Amino acid sequence: MPVYDFIVVGSGIAGLSFALKAASHGKVLVLTKKLSWSGSTNLAQGGIASVMDPSDSVDRHAQDTLNAGAGLCREDRVRILVNQGPQAIRDLVEWGVRFTLASGKNGSGSKKQPGAVPFHLAREGGHSSSRIVHADDLTGHEIQRALIEAASKHKNVTILENYLAIDLVTKKHLRQGERESGPRRCYGLYALDVKGDKIDLFLSGATVLCTGGVGQIYAHSTNDSVSTGDGIAMAFRAGAAVEDMEFMQFHPTALYNPGQPTYLITEAMRGHGGILRNYRGESFMDKVHPLKSLAPRDIVARAIDAEMKRTGQPCVYLDVTASAKPDLIKHFPNIYAHCMDMGLDISKQWIPVVPAAHFMCGGVKVDLNSATELAGLFAVGETACTGVHGANRLGSNSLLEGVVFADRALTHIAAHPSKQPVRRRFKSWNSFALKPAPETIIYSHSLETIKSTMWHYVGIVRSDFRLARAEEFIRVISRQIHKDYWSFSMVPDLIELRNLTLCAELIIQSARKRKESRGLHYNLDHPKASKAAKHTTLRLKPE
Ligand code: FUM
Repeated sequence: MPVYDFIVVGSGIAGLSFALKAASHGKVLVLTKKLSWSGSTNLAQGGIASVMDPSDSVDRHAQDTLNAGAGLCREDRVRILVNQGPQAIRDLVEWGVRFTLASGKNGSGSKKQPGAVPFHLAREGGHSSSRIVHADDLTGHEIQRALIEAASKHKNVTILENYLAIDLVTKKHLRQGERESGPRRCYGLYALDVKGDKIDLFLSGATVLCTGGVGQIYAHSTNDSVSTGDGIAMAFRAGAAVEDMEFMQFHPTALYNPGQPTYLITEAMRGHGGILRNYRGESFMDKVHPLKSLAPRDIVARAIDAEMKRTGQPCVYLDVTASAKPDLIKHFPNIYAHCMDMGLDISKQWIPVVPAAHFMCGGVKVDLNSATELAGLFAVGETACTGVHGANRLGSNSLLEGVVFADRALTHIAAHPSKQPVRRRFKSWNSFALKPAPETIIYSHSLETIKSTMWHYVGIVRSDFRLARAEEFIRVISRQIHKDYWSFSMVPDLIELRNLTLCAELIIQSARKRKESRGLHYNLDHPKASKAAKHTTLRLKPE
């Protein structure tokens, strides 16, 4: 059975930047359940926040992050994040990312001193300064391109596509006669080889979960179809704690284009002067917050939700017509072209927009070295809850978090090498008793129920009654999935549905525990923030 020094699950910015650094220390296996391009990194438009301008400061970046986080950020982690920002940009440049320069061209910048290179810096909601380093309006795509290229060339990195991780290997998977008396530990994982239709066991001293978020749990999401909470669910089942799962961030402006896949309209458009209007043309944010259309995301998303309910309209509008056409094409070439393709000239017409589920601020509880509560198990990026986002993430801090906390994880692991726990013998996946399900379409029916339940009952505005109702619906599905999982053969839809169902339960349980409104969690029955800001932690009872 294959043994690696590091196993990374997920090929976005967190997974690949970890893999590239870990490759100097040993053999790295990257498992990705579809193509290495799949995932939310590739879809990120806006950019990566970092203090690159001498008139800006890390203190201001930290303060903006803390303000957005509504009292729940872990300040020590926030300081690590913002202080390591410029180094993260240097790392990305080193790996070949071509960010947009102030000249408007896309270039590599100076590898030695990117701070001295005039990157074009965009502005987003909640930021007191322009500090978003970007590559046009396709930043994630450019990062993903460069990281895949760099990782594919490295002799110590193996990327296996179409391998879907099912569960982590723990003590309970030891073969009869094997003993382990040390701390609770992860030894690797079982994964479905989707093309080969078999389940493989992979062992490693360090397993790093970088599977992104759980946007597919909601009917409307900006996330890729792969965002099914796999890492969060696997870690929880293995006994690691999860934290702050009630804080799902809804992006205020996804393109309203019914029947079509959700398409993000970057917040940088509001940073560039875009104004939110209702169908009558009123700039409704003026009365809501001093920063108007550039207020923090939780506030804007709630105001849009309220405006849609008040006016009975299916969307609101983003007006960027004050910018000249060449200027829009220069800064937002892809959004401009995308809208043109559907017959919308954004230099003349308002863009119809609605909120959509965008980012999970909670996740697997980790310390400041990205370590979970299980020895040998790490989580980085959207899968993890480092505490840097608190109750509401500041835009463009997430790509940064991926690079910075991947580096923390690697530095920690390199300084504390594991004592070869993988010498133990583990059971191979026991599937002989399982038969194919009579129908697999039932999995997509259950998924539709979860998506609409979460959207309508656990969305932007919540209530005790709705949360209780949602819990009942999801409990029924959870029981069915549990039965199916132990009766039928493993297929990707079942594995993902099992993970999504568990994440839905974790989100609802966390939301029910929070008897206040804070950041992204707004409950009509508890409209005020309580005096003491507390994290919500959930973990399985030890067996
Ligand atoms: O609006 C955006 O481009 C999104 C940025 C982010 O979520 O960080």
